Parts: sequence; C-alpha cells; structure tokens
Amino acid sequence: MSQCRVCGRSVELVLDLGSQPLSDVFPPEPPAAGQEFFYRLQLGRCAGCATVQLLEEVPRERMFGEHYPYRSSGSSVMRTHFSDWAKHLLGTELAGKPDPFVVELGCNDGVMLGTIAEAGVRHLGVEPSGGIARTAEERGVRVLTAYFEKETAAAIAAEDGPADVIYAANTLCHIPYIGSVLDGVSELLTDDGIFVFEDPYLGDVVAATSFDQIYDEHYFLFSATTVAELARRHGLALVDVERLAVHGGEVRYTLAREGKRPASPAVAELVAEEAERRLHDPATLAAFADSVRHNARELIALLTRLREDGHTIAAYGATAKSATVTNFCGIGPELVTTVYDTTPEKQGRVTPGTHIPVSPASAFDAPYPDYALLFAWNHAAEIMARETEFRERGGRWITYVPDVRVL
Ligand code: SAH
Ligand code: TYD
Ligand code: ZN
Repeated sequence: MSQCRVCGRSVELVLDLGSQPLSDVFPPEPPAAGQEFFYRLQLGRCAGCATVQLLEEVPRERMFGEHYPYRSSGSSVMRTHFSDWAKHLLGTELAGKPDPFVVELGCNDGVMLGTIAEAGVRHLGVEPSGGIARTAEERGVRVLTAYFEKETAAAIAAEDGPADVIYAANTLCHIPYIGSVLDGVSELLTDDGIFVFEDPYLGDVVAATSFDQIYDEHYFLFSATTVAELARRHGLALVDVERLAVHGGEVRYTLAREGKRPASPAVAELVAEEAERRLHDPATLAAFADSVRHNARELIALLTRLREDGHTIAAYGATAKSATVTNFCGIGPELVTTVYDTTPEKQGRVTPGTHIPVSPASAFDAPYPDYALLFAWNHAAEIMARETEFRERGGRWITYVPDVRVL
C-alpha cells in the first residue's frame, strides 16, 4: 500500500496496467531480455483526500535527463496554444508591472517562454532535461537545468527575487514530490502573484476512457476538488479553473495566496459538477477501470482480425501515452509494423517494451498501410488535416479513444 503524496493517507488500487517500460526511452535497437527498465503501473485513489495518483514512483533521473526525447514544439496546435497564453500573460498579469518576473517549470524547448523572451520580459525556465534545455537556450530563453523543488525555489528567489507568475504545463502532474514543489512555489511567489498550471483532467480521462494518459510520467490525474485541497494544505487557494481542449482535455488551474484574490465562480461550478457526477467515488473509478479493460480487449480483437484478413497496420505518433496501450494490450511488430513520427530523437529507434520500429512521418506513404492506428489521437485534427492523401488512397484510421473505432 502506498501513501498519498498530498495528505499521507493510504492509496487504494483503482486499475492495474501491469509491468511497463519507461514511456519515453526509445532503445536504438530491440534490447536483450532484462536490459530494459520495467516498473508496475498501478493507478490508485487516496482514501483520505481522493487524489488520483500512481502507486509506484519511478526515479526522476530515469525519466528526465540528457536524452529525454519529447519536443513540445512538435505540434502546431500546441505552438499556437502556448504563444497565445504567453501573449495573454503579457497583456494582463505582466502588463503595467515595472520589472515583472516569470518562472516556468518544465519549459522544455521554450515553446512558451520564447514569446516572453522576445517581449524582453525577465524570465527563467526550470528544466532538468539537459538536451531540450539547450534547445530552449538557443532560442533565447534563460534556463536553469534543474528539477524544481523547495531548494531550487529558494535559490531562484535569492538570485532573482520573487516571481509574479509561476507557470507549469504538463509538468506538475509529473512530479510525485509535489509537497516540496508547492512549498517552493509558496516561497518564490510575490505576495499577490499567481501559480498557473495545466494538466490532463481526471474528468476527461474518465469520460473518454483515455487510459493512455496513465504512464510513468503522469503521476497525478488532477481535478478541481483535489487541487483545491492541495492548494489549501500549502497556504494557497484555487481561484480559477479553465477547461482546455488540448491533449484530449485539460484544466488550467490558477492558485494565489490564501485571501489575496477572489475565486472565480468557475471554481465552485467545476467542484459542484465533479460532486454531481461522483467523479471521485470508488464506484465511478471501478467502472472506469472496467471500461479500460473492455476497450483494450476490443482493440486487440480488431487488430488481430485485420491482420488475419491480410491487412497491413501501422501506427501514427510514437507518443509516451502509447507505451501504456501497446504494453498492456501486447501490441508488437507482428500486429503493427511501424510507428511514424516527426521527432528526430525517436526515429530509427524502437518503441519502449514492444519494440516496434519508429520511422519518420515523411515515410508514411512509402507505401501507405491499409490501416493506421492513431497513437497521437490528441492531435487527430492536426494530423488528419495533413495526411489527407492517406484517406484518399483508401487508408483508414483506427482510434481507441473514446472507444475502439475505424474512422
Ligand atoms: N511544458 C511543456 C513540456 C511538458 S513535458 C509542454 O507542455 O509541452 C514535461 C517537462 O517537465 C519535461 O521537459 C521534463 O524534463 C520536465 N520536468 C520533469 N520534472 C521536473 C521538475 N521537477 N521541475 C521542472 N521540470 C520538470
Ligand atoms: P504527445 O501526444 O504530444 O505527447 P506524449 O508523448 O506525452 O504522449 O506526442 C505526440 C507525438 O506525436 C510526438 O512524438 C510527435 C508526434 N507527432 C507527429 O508525428 N506528427 C504530428 O503532426 C504531431 C502533432 C505529433
Ligand atoms: Zn490524500
């Protein structure tokens, strides 16, 4: 039994996704048996505060380091999302302040801070993955190559002074030592500053059975109810929530010091909605786990039948998420021959655990497969808009979110 990283009570098992490899480590060739790191992927719910979280923590150095391959700028929709957000900050929170300071946790390749840097605003990205941190620096972003936690925050406060805005996208949910991060935020934030973070929303994961949002890096699946409790424990308050369509459904949470900003009605509304749908009830989460197992069985049945009928199947998007699907379902090169992806750091390598070769997306048409399993379903609109010829030539997309379907 593991202990909740928010309140210390026991975390009860919701869904067991079995033995899994690191989702973002793509070996150069199929490794010999025993050469790949595996951990047990189990999702649980805290009996005390209801926060949904993993039971096993993978050491952070195994996930985030020099060779971490994820590139935030790989999606044009995400590039727009982050530059829009940076412009919004420049026009609101940062406007009119004499010398504002912005800190971003997990700035990756500088997809958001690039715009802040261009505007000449004082900023710092905290990014432990060295390779990608240098890419951010090359575009003019100031980066501290470190894991953000209490000690890092104290060092930044000592050197640069307090931050008006602390921001984290798809990063806070990656950090099991969340108490230390919130203490650090509390230490670094100006008296009336805001901490804004956006992460996959538990409510959307449950509604769409998007179980591939569960993997080593996604330690928490947040909701308004549980984030409000997390904030309260650190002298902060949840003052705004905004639902986002990106990455299959996220929420952008805004925290401020307790008593410093009035809460928007959206907070109470989302908390009430979560209570009404019994989002955190063990029964709701047990039903979600049943749906996951059902969809996984359907997916294997579909792929097996198509292969038996002589069709070729490839996949699109070597996502970290898809490691959960392929390893849980047992989908290897005998079912899916190739995964096409635009990330140079993943190409010429094989997928974690299941060892499907990854090829450049530009080779998708040489020749087109009969079916393409859309691992990057969260980027469906962007990918389908570009790969129109695949459909015109008779190719069919397969998705498994919200259910298994040939499109
Ligand atoms: N913000 C980007 C990147 C998300 S990927 C986006 O939304 O696309 C998560 C990032 O968090 C990775 O670049 C990883 O290296 C970084 N990360 C992991 N642990 C961290 C920590 N403790 N502090 C800061 N960044 C961290
Ligand atoms: P993403 O779903 O953003 O994240 P995660 O790895 O955390 O699940 O990953 C998208 C992957 O899909 C990434 O490896 C880049 C790739 N990709 C393409 O190959 N083509 C595209 O048009 C887009 C948008 C992404
Ligand atoms: Zn708890």
